[in-house]
This record gives sequence, C-alpha cells and structure tokens, in this order.
Amino acid sequence: MSDISVLMTSVGAYLPKKILTNEDLSAFVDTDDEWIRQRTGITQRHIVADGELTSDMAREAALQALQRVGLDGVDIDLIIVATTTPDDTFPSTAAKLQHQLGAVYAVAFDVQAVCAGFVYALDIADAMLRSGRGKRALVIGAESFSKLLDWQDRSTCVLFGDGAGAVILERDEYAVEWGIRSSILHTDGAHRDILYVDGGPSSSSAVGHVRMEGNKVFRHAVEKLSSAMDEALAAANMTVSDVDWLVPHQANIRIIDGMQKKMQLPTDRVVRTVDKHANTSAASIPLALSVAVGDGRIKNGEVVAFEAIGGGLVWGATLVKYGRPQK
Ligand code: ACO
Repeated sequence: MSDISVLMTSVGAYLPKKILTNEDLSAFVDTDDEWIRQRTGITQRHIVADGELTSDMAREAALQALQRVGLDGVDIDLIIVATTTPDDTFPSTAAKLQHQLGAVYAVAFDVQAVCAGFVYALDIADAMLRSGRGKRALVIGAESFSKLLDWQDRSTCVLFGDGAGAVILERDEYAVEWGIRSSILHTDGAHRDILYVDGGPSSSSAVGHVRMEGNKVFRHAVEKLSSAMDEALAAANMTVSDVDWLVPHQANIRIIDGMQKKMQLPTDRVVRTVDKHANTSAASIPLALSVAVGDGRIKNGEVVAFEAIGGGLVWGATLVKYGRPQK
C-alpha cells in the first residue's frame, strides 16, 4: 500500500425531534413493546416532521462535522450521500447539499446501497482521495426511511427510523497507517427478493414500501458480516485484538450481539444505538459513531470496525484508525 492515508477526522449527526415509541406504535398497529424489545432491542425511533427532508438532515449532520474541525463547504472536494430515500428521483441529494453548503469546488453524487450505503460510500471516497481526486470528502448517510414504510405492516414498520450522520475524510501523506486501513464490499443480487421496495420510477409510478422476509435476512446477516470482517482484518494485516471498537449497522440487537460473539469482543467495546435510533439504514453507522465519539468512548487513534448489510443483498466491512496524529 502507498504511504497515502485517508483519515477520518470528524463526525456529525442529526436526529429529527419527533420520537415514536413502541407504545405509540401499538396504538395503530397490532404490536407491543415487549415483542419489539425482545426481537429487536428497539424502544423508540426518530421520525421526520412534515416537510423535513433527507437533505435537511444531511445538511445539519454535515455542518456539525465541518464545524467540529473548523472547516467550511469551500474546503471540501467531494460529497457522497448514501441514501435510499433522496428528496427527489433527481437531482441527487448530494448536489442539493453541495449548493446549500457553499461547497463550490466539490463533486457531489449519491450512492444507493440501502443499509450498507455508508460503507459503500466510504470505500468510494477512500479510493477517490487516495488516487488524488481531491483532498477532503464529506461522506454522509441520510435517510427518511419512514417514507418507505407500510404503517399497517407490523413486521417492518416497527424496525426503522430517520436520521443522518456525516464524516470528514482527509487525504494525508504523512500519517502512515492512520485512517481507513481496509474496506471490503460484496453484493449478491440472487437474494434481492428477501428485502426490497415494491415500487420505483421504472417499475411503477409509486415510490413503494419495504417488503422483507425478516428471518431470511437474519440468517444471512451474521455469517456474511463476520466473513467480511475477517477479510477486512486480513487486508489490514490486523487481528481482532487490534480492534478497539465495533460500530455495527444498527438493524437488530440480536445481529449486533451475534457479531460481538463471533468476533469475541467484550460487550463494552460494541457501540449500540439501535434501542434509541432503530434501523436508520445508511445513517445508522455514522449516527452511532457520533454518539460514541461525542461521549468520549472512541478516542483519537483508536481502531474502529464498521460493518453493514442491506437489501440487494449488499454488505461490507471497514477498518479505520480514527482521528489524526497529534503534533
Ligand atoms: N409485533 C408483534 N408480532 C409480530 C410483529 C410485531 N411487530 N412482527 C411480526 N410478528 C409476529 C409474526 O406475525 C409471527 O407471528 P406467527 O408466529 O403467529 O406467524 C411472529 O411474530 C414471528 O415472526 P418472525 O418474522 O418469525 O419473527 P422473527 O423472530 O424472525 O423476528 C425480525 C422478526 C425482528 C424482523 C427478525 O427476523 C429480524 O430482525 N430480521 C433481520 C431483518 C432486519 O433487521 N432487517 C432490517 C433491514 S436489513 C438490515 O438492516 C440488516
């Protein structure tokens, strides 16, 4: 590998104000708090207000990430928004954001890999910065997943929430072995029918709703995620003992606990936000990262492992030495 590193130097997050608890849900769909907690670990989720858009959440998360390191939109060369719930079919949410942030020098586009969108976007940004296509990138996961839910379908509507998280990546020629150490992505479209949305611009006139065979998705999750993590560790020439934190996609507490066991990590080394945020798809990892950096758990120089799986199926894992060397 070259001496060029792509550092992860900041994180920001945004959650809509409105909270929908399990009790609130049980008022209009046949479910209850105990079932949801036991099967998923979720107690509540945040939901966008009327008129609040994916780009609004993405902008708030991006501004927080920028402000934390004293940067402005003009300092950014690349903006990638991972989202399955863009404001409009086109233009991209990233293009809108580029304008709103005054990021006049940035190339901006969206990536759609559902719940794995953030690890996909990280990999693309890492490759672009490493190859000299700019110095700084904003990588954002932002979702209004509540807009894709059939609120009569108890097997899916209890699982998801809305929000956004953003990180700043910076190309650096001197911080050897910091930043993104490895990144592994996989796709297997043979399983596209176990988790999908039954609508879209070319197949129907409607946006559609999430349809899922939850137990089938569950069976794929831990096996595929742990094998991607093994590949990421091997690619970074690391072992699990080098990993300080697992920040997993927050879909279900049982998948997260399964990954913790597989990796043989102590419980307190795994960041869990699924109870409060539910599954926010592409936003879930940067939201969880923001919580653990914000409360002081994840410190500068610690090694953080990300993993995610989503509809496609698409999945991946990333290893990052977080922050930057202190002068
Ligand atoms: N409240 C009460 N009962 C419910 C609910 C609900 N919200 N949803 C389903 N049930 C019932 C079912 O109807 C079924 O009843 P039956 O036995 O009378 O037929 C029973 O609960 C069991 O249903 P299952 O689907 O078998 O329950 P399971 O234990 O598999 O849990 C769940 C469902 C939570 C969806 C689980 O399969 C899961 O987490 N799968 C992973 C999928 C996931 O996380 N997807 C998110 C997107 S992909 C990703 O991010 C990884």
